[in-house]
Amino acid sequence: MHTYPNLAVIDHPLVRHKLSVLRDSQTSKKKFKELVDEIAMLMAYEVTRDLPMRTVTIQTPLEAMESEVLAGKKLTVVPILRAGLGMVEGVVRLMPSARVGHIGMYRDHETLEPVEYYFKIPPEPAERDFILLDPMLATGGSASAAVTALKARGASRVRFMCLVAAPEGVERMHRDHPDVKVFAAALDRELDANGYIRPGLGDAGDRLFGTR
Ligand code: PRP
Ligand code: URA
Repeated sequence: MHTYPNLAVIDHPLVRHKLSVLRDSQTSKKKFKELVDEIAMLMAYEVTRDLPMRTVTIQTPLEAMESEVLAGKKLTVVPILRAGLGMVEGVVRLMPSARVGHIGMYRDHETLEPVEYYFKIPPEPAERDFILLDPMLATGGSASAAVTALKARGASRVRFMCLVAAPEGVERMHRDHPDVKVFAAALDRELDANGYIRPGLGDAGDRLFGTR
């Protein structure tokens, strides 16, 4: 398999198993939602592996000690609406005090170009680590535009987390934002003529929210 310098595939057996069930067209909407949540939680553990730490002095019941805690302002999780919403709870379960921003973005069905319709993140973005969430990285247009929007407000530390990535999207992210590491549960074969990831899992938003 081709490797990309900006891509980390999180291929833990539990993630691989759950992703297979997620892809299955027979999987119900309820189960699909549960699986997106569970995979996001498992992935979050790896995605946050290199977060900066600082040392503080704490008092155990027996003595004082130097110990590490996460450094800096609260981590910020940013789903790309709609489908990214399905990943939020799983990630926040691991980091309950994380802040949550939102970026509204949809892909024009004709042009496949992303259209931004909503943007809200916590203050002082320059001092935060961001995890951008979207289950699908297809052409990469939505993810790239979302990173551009975050950077325009001052964010400089962004990582992108998806479930299924297409090679085209990974390459696009590397071209547009080489500083942004992409974490995926799987790297699929290709995009089809309609911009769908193959083999993929279909339309993530529609399967999550039952809109088809
Ligand atoms: C899907 C998906 C990504 C985007 C990926 O969203 O959730 O945001 O497409 O495609 P790209 O990499 O080619 O930009 P969609 O536009 O269908 O919107 P939705 O989440 O509201 O359904
Ligand atoms: N968006 C999806 O939801 N699925 C794809 O395969 C491509 C874009």
